[in-house]
Amino acid sequence: MCGIVGYIGGDQAAPVLLSGLEKLEYRGYDSAGVAVYDGTSLKVVKAKGRLKVLSDLIDGGKKTPGTIGIGHTRWATHGAPSDINSHPQVSDSGRFAVVHNGIIENYMALKEMLVRKGKTFVSETDTEVVAQLLEYYYQGDILDAMIRVLQKVEGSYALGVISQDNPDELVAVRKDSPLIVGLGEGENYIASDVPAILNKTRDIYRLNDREIVVLRRDSVKIYNMDKELVSKEVCHIDWDVSAAEKGGYEHFMAKEIMEQPKVLRDTISPRLKDGKIVLDSISLTAEDLKSFSKICIVACGSAYHVGVVAKYVFEKVMRIPVDVDLASEFRYRDPMVDKSTLVLVISQSGETADTLAALREAKRRGARTLSIVNVVGSSIANESDDVIYTWAGPEIAVATTKAYSAQLAVVYLLAIYMGQLNGKLDSQQVASYIAALEKLPEQVEEVLQDKENVQYLASLFFNARDVFFIGRNLDYAMSLEGSLKLKEISYIHSDAYAAGELKHGTISLIENGTLVIALATQNPLFDKMMSNVKEVKARGAIVLGMAVQGNTQIENFADHVIYIPETCDIMLPSLAVIPLQLFSYYVSSMKGCDIDKPRNLAKSVTVE
Ligand code: AGP
Repeated sequence: MCGIVGYIGGDQAAPVLLSGLEKLEYRGYDSAGVAVYDGTSLKVVKAKGRLKVLSDLIDGGKKTPGTIGIGHTRWATHGAPSDINSHPQVSDSGRFAVVHNGIIENYMALKEMLVRKGKTFVSETDTEVVAQLLEYYYQGDILDAMIRVLQKVEGSYALGVISQDNPDELVAVRKDSPLIVGLGEGENYIASDVPAILNKTRDIYRLNDREIVVLRRDSVKIYNMDKELVSKEVCHIDWDVSAAEKGGYEHFMAKEIMEQPKVLRDTISPRLKDGKIVLDSISLTAEDLKSFSKICIVACGSAYHVGVVAKYVFEKVMRIPVDVDLASEFRYRDPMVDKSTLVLVISQSGETADTLAALREAKRRGARTLSIVNVVGSSIANESDDVIYTWAGPEIAVATTKAYSAQLAVVYLLAIYMGQLNGKLDSQQVASYIAALEKLPEQVEEVLQDKENVQYLASLFFNARDVFFIGRNLDYAMSLEGSLKLKEISYIHSDAYAAGELKHGTISLIENGTLVIALATQNPLFDKMMSNVKEVKARGAIVLGMAVQGNTQIENFADHVIYIPETCDIMLPSLAVIPLQLFSYYVSSMKGCDIDKPRNLAKSVTVE
């Protein structure tokens, strides 16, 4: 996510902004910038790269004097990392400067309108439209202008604004992206998150969606969209800095697990328009699709597990053959890909060496390449013919959770989009899938509310020596991810098996007390799964089962049960994975492991 800091007071603003942005570095970013009012105009300095680049440019703030300013660290979503795409973004005249965290979903339409009105745009960002709209609507009252802007923009935002015409007011607002107000003596602050201002004040206001705050040195006023004053309770923060960086959670992994509903909304909503899937960023046409004889998916680790889910989903929805390959194997098997193959490359970091090498091998053989990536401007994103970003924000914990879930969401979007394009889905099926997709974030929230039950189950099994995950069809694909999550952060040996495969050897490992986690969410295969559960129970296994709510039959077979809400079969993995993430997290926590930085692992494996 991007980082925002704003200051108005008696001190020089730039050093305060730099210090606050430093405290937000953990959020991940690729560029940074500040805007300060120097008594005459807004001075804006911004650059791609680390905060040090910016600090050196302004000599620690000496080159940008002034006592009101806004600062930003950018995690690129629209527009690759570059100086011109960095924030603050400014209006044509330079009189309005804006910093933004979130996604303005209708920025293209607004940009076209403003261009027609004579505005000139310089960046690829969605944020620039906010600065231009502010100038367009400004008639002397910045609050009025802000309200008019908010009536036009759609999407998620935390915005900080300063204006040359209102040099004694810093205006901010949020919707879906967090923003707080720091309360000082003769000075006030805005920030994306508490760590940025914790060394200045522990008294804050937490803004609700579409509450607009106007900061002056001696006052903080909060308005609703009807320009009515809103009263707020002061919230006193007693966290230490480390806890604050994790949003109050004990680990980044916990924070990122809990962020998944928002991440799904951020990844899905901008791609749903008037009941259709819109993937503006890709150039694939219906003709292209018809020209592909197969799809080949290449990835590593959890991204590979998304590929295994995608195989089932694409083949069911698009009726086109799909291969899934470990990227590290793909390039050494003389792969049968050519111009009639669509190679789908999945990677959170966009820098995984094996996956990048597989992408290059696929391109060398003439295949069309499409990647699903979380880091804008990463190598895999830049070298693919097309890329769809997951917009999960920076993922700090080594074990992926929210990026994995966002990748699944893109797989569903892509399947429906291509099923529409190649005529395999009729309008009713498209509408039904889209309805299920729109409901997914709230269903994930529902599953997360059951975390105490999962924590209790983890307390029963955190000393397990061997754990087996079994499932059929999409539940088998989920077994792979459940097993990897458990072993990579709790160091417990676990394996995933297609449930029908156990009897071909592995069942010899099942003995008294062995934990078997049986995923039985695919109802058409439920009876088969229960046969497999009986097989392992007969050999002494303890079974933790997972089923869809209402399918209480599972209680006749399993020792413990986790239920997930009902949704269409292809999207059940997005709900099933949540308890598996939580189970691994709690087991690892009870074992005292280093959850965010497990031994031997790196967040991005940039070596082969
Ligand atoms: C997942 O929890 C692991 N950290 C690892 O398997 C990861 O998914 C794999 O290294 C691929 O990384 P990527 O998505 O950045 O390419």
